[in-house]
Amino acid sequence: MQDLKGKIALVTGIANKRSIAYAIAQDFARYGVRLVIAYQPFGKDSEEQKIKKLTADFRPELLIPLDAASPKSILATIGQIKKKFGRMHVLVHSIAGAKREELAGRFVDTSLEGYLLAQQISAYSLIELTRAARPLMLEEGGSVMTLSYIGSMRVTTNYNVMGSAKAALEANVRYLAHDMGEENIRVNAISPGPVRTLSASGIKDFLFLLHQSRELSALKRNVTTDEIAHTASFLASSLSSGITGQVIFVDGGYNNYG
Ligand SMILES: NC(=O)c1ccc[n+]([C@@H]2O[C@H](COP(=O)([O-])OP(=O)(O)OC[C@H]3O[C@@H](n4cnc5c(N)ncnc54)[C@H](O)[C@@H]3O)[C@@H](O)[C@H]2O)c1
Repeated sequence: MQDLKGKIALVTGIANKRSIAYAIAQDFARYGVRLVIAYQPFGKDSEEQKIKKLTADFRPELLIPLDAASPKSILATIGQIKKKFGRMHVLVHSIAGAKREELAGRFVDTSLEGYLLAQQISAYSLIELTRAARPLMLEEGGSVMTLSYIGSMRVTTNYNVMGSAKAALEANVRYLAHDMGEENIRVNAISPGPVRTLSASGIKDFLFLLHQSRELSALKRNVTTDEIAHTASFLASSLSSGITGQVIFVDGGYNNYG
């Protein structure tokens, strides 16, 4: 994917080496993408050092703290990219958040506070980040991508409030794609099968989801973060130039089975 060389990409959502975003940044770096990494600061100065060490091999040109629950922080992140590069080509939104207690038990007990929090961090932040990034993509076109999950459309045990958030996220993808298609900015979602990450560990009985996905998928195995990352590189490149407003499954075919 030669045309990725020199493109400027903002990758969000790296918490550790297991993060899907880590594999995406690694793949992008392989293709010569110029990386900006935005990490959740967790209110700790030490977080920057941790992420710096974690991503050193990818030679990121900027490391920026980003709180997706803060409109100011989102604007500041894109503002730093504007100041340094004046443009960007790729936005990877790999952010999800919910209260742990909402990812267990009965969906009917979802609190308003928990519902709004999951929506803001996991779905609305895509709109805010895209709105801020759009002016920097207008000249050369852009590719925006986010990460969803099949719990958006099928009842998935304990996924609860995140199911609503992912359903909203996928609708956001379609509406954003519609808005910006004429500006040559594409917007898509990747919907991977389950992988063991920090976020996933917050879902009660997550191992059952892994097992079920392995047993019921066509490939009879779970997918790897590298496989998800290869799809992200495809979506970032011009090889996917005709694809927008889509949810692309990387789940070994699991979504075809009942
Ligand atoms: N792991 C899976 O099985 C799976 C399957 C399908 C989709 N996904 C999605 O993939 C994406 C990445 O998750 P992951 O599995 O790599 O887990 P992860 O925990 O490694 O990544 C989630 C990231 O979201 C970030 N985040 C949460 N709240 C934030 C905030 N307020 N501001 C900024 N960043 C914030 C965290 O810091 C973390 O880096 C999520 O959208 C998740 O729902 C995961």
